[in-house]
Amino acid sequence: MLLFSRRRVWALILTGLIFFFLISFRRLNSAALSSVGLYPKNGSPHGAGGDSLASYWARIKPHYPVDSMRPLPTGSPSALPPVQTTFAPESATDRSLRLDRQAAVKDAFLRCWKSYRQKAWMSDELAPISGHRKGHFGGWGATLVDSLDTLWIMGLREQFDEAVAAAASISFETTTIKEVNVFETNIRYLGGFLAAYDLSGDARLLKKAREVGDMLYAAFDTPNRMPMTRWDLHAASRGQMQVAHEHVLLAEIGTFSLEFIRLSLLTGDPKWFDAVQRIMEAFQEQQQTSHLPGMWPVVVNARKMEFDKHTDYTLNAMADSLYEYLPKTHALVGGLLPMYREMYEASMDTAIRYNFFRPMVPDGNDILISGMISAKSDNSHTKLRPEGQHLGCYTGGMLALGGKLIQNQTHVGTGEKLMDGCVWAYQAAPLGIMPELFYALPCKSTEQCAWDEKLWVQEVIDMAGLNNLDVDSADAEALIAKKRLPKGYTHIPDARYILRPEAIESVFVLYRITGRQDLIESAWKMFEAIDQNTRTELANSALGNVLEDKPPMSDSMESFWLGETLKYFYLMFSEPDLISLDEYVFNTEAHPLKRLLPT
Ligand SMILES: *[C@@H]1O[C@H](CO)[C@@H](O)[C@H](O)[C@H]1NC(C)=O
Repeated sequence: MLLFSRRRVWALILTGLIFFFLISFRRLNSAALSSVGLYPKNGSPHGAGGDSLASYWARIKPHYPVDSMRPLPTGSPSALPPVQTTFAPESATDRSLRLDRQAAVKDAFLRCWKSYRQKAWMSDELAPISGHRKGHFGGWGATLVDSLDTLWIMGLREQFDEAVAAAASISFETTTIKEVNVFETNIRYLGGFLAAYDLSGDARLLKKAREVGDMLYAAFDTPNRMPMTRWDLHAASRGQMQVAHEHVLLAEIGTFSLEFIRLSLLTGDPKWFDAVQRIMEAFQEQQQTSHLPGMWPVVVNARKMEFDKHTDYTLNAMADSLYEYLPKTHALVGGLLPMYREMYEASMDTAIRYNFFRPMVPDGNDILISGMISAKSDNSHTKLRPEGQHLGCYTGGMLALGGKLIQNQTHVGTGEKLMDGCVWAYQAAPLGIMPELFYALPCKSTEQCAWDEKLWVQEVIDMAGLNNLDVDSADAEALIAKKRLPKGYTHIPDARYILRPEAIESVFVLYRITGRQDLIESAWKMFEAIDQNTRTELANSALGNVLEDKPPMSDSMESFWLGETLKYFYLMFSEPDLISLDEYVFNTEAHPLKRLLPT
C-alpha cells in the first residue's frame, strides 16, 4: 500500500486550500456587492460632466471622490549609482556571431508577428496551431499592444507605424469579457502604451495610455479607494457602486506603481500617483506586523486594508511583482520617493534570510532558488517549501538591479546566484527547458553542499509519497526513470513551459550588470532549445510537458512571448546601450519606461 508522507499530506492540504480559495474567490466577486447592500437603488448611468474631450471613463462621476489628492513629488531626481557595467570592446568574430544570433531572434519574432497580423489581427492572441483568435484579456488586442515597443526596439518601423495606427482605434469603453483582471490590464496595456510612447514620442500612444489609465482608475472608486482587482467593468459602467474584495492576491493589488506614477508624470495629473500611494503607504505601515516581518502574505484583505494576516510568504507566483516594483519604482523616480527603497531593503532582508535556499545539485554549483515560507503567528515557527518556479526567475534580475541601485553587493551576489539557479534548471532539464514548477533538496548549509546520491533518491521517494520504497531498490530507480527526473530535481508537479520570459530576463539583466561572457552562451542555448521545441507552422506554442522528447503543444501563445521573451532575447544580443538599464526600467511585462534622471 502507498503511504502518504507528511510532506505529501501537507501538499494535499495546501492544494485543497487553494482550490477552496479559488472557488470562494470567484463567488466573492459577484456576491461581494450585494452582500454589503451597496447596490444603488437605480443603476442609471451617472452624469457626464467636465471636459468633453476627456475619455469615456474620465467623464463618469465617481461615488467616492478623493478628498485630498497627494501631490506629485517635486524636487530634482538624484543620480543613482550606475547599473550597467562598462563593456570591453568586442572582437570582430564575437560581433558577427552576436549579430547572427540577434537576427535569428528577430526572425522568430517576425514569423509570429506576420501570422498574428494575418490571422488574429487586433484580437488578444493568436492560437499558434489552429490559427484561431483568442480574447481573454479584454478583447482589446493584447498581443498588438504588448508588441508595440518590441517592434520599435527591433527596428521594424513599418510594422510599428501600422500597429500604432491600429492601436489608436481600440475602444476601452467596454469589453468582450465578463470580468477584467485589473493587474493584467495595467501591466500589458497601460505598460505597453507608456513604453511605446517613451520610445517613440508618438502622441497617439500617450492618449491611449490615458484612456486605459482612466478606465483602470474607475476600478479604484470604492469606499476605501482600494481597487477592484477582478473587476466587473460593465457594472461600473452602469454606475453600480463597488467595494474592494476581502481576498485578493498580493501581486494584483501591489503592482501599479511603475505604470501609474509614469502616467501621472507624463500627463501632470496626480490622480494615478495618489491612487497607488494610498495602497503602498498602507503596505509600508504593515510591513513589520505580518507573521514574517518584512514581507507580506500572498493573500490580503483589500476591503479591511489588512495586509499582514495570512501565513504564506513568497516572491513567486501571486506575490512576485509587488516586490519587483519596489526597487524599480525607486529607479523610476530617481530616489524622489524614499519609501520604495525602504520597503525594498526591509523585504529583501527577510527574503534573503528565509526564502532563498541552496539546492543540492550534482556539480555542487553555488546557486540559489527562491522558495515559499509558511509562518505561524510570529516568525518563531517557519517552514520552507523548497519549490522553484519559472515565474520566480525574475528574482535574480531584481536583486542584482536593486543591489546596484542601493550599492549593496550582497544583493547583487544573491541575485547572481538566483539567476544561476535558473540557468542550472534549464541546463539540467532533458530538453534544456525549465518546467513551470519543481522541487529541489535544500542543502543544510549554504557554504558547502556536496552531492549525495542516496540523499537525493530518498527525497525523491519522500516527495512521491512512497516511503515504503528502499533507497537502494530497483523500484526507486524505476520511479526516477518513470518520472524522468533530472538529478537535483526531486519532484516536478507542473512540467509545462508556456513561453515564459523570467529566466532570460534575469540572464539579460545580469549580463548588463556584470558583463559575464558565459551568459551569452547560456542565453543562446535557452533560445535554441525554446525555439526548436515550441515552433509551429505559424508561430510558437506553449508546451504541455518538457520532460517528454516530443512535448505535446497546447495551442497557446500568450502576448508575453512577443512582448517579453523575444524582447529580452533580442536585447541580450544587442549593443549594451540599446535600452540601457541606466536610462530605462522595465515593468513586469518587459515594457521599458524612462527613468527620471538629474538634468
Ligand atoms: C546589504 O544587504 C544585506 C541583506 O539584506 C544586509 O544584511 C546588509 O546590512 C546590507 N548592507 C548594507 C551596507 O546596507
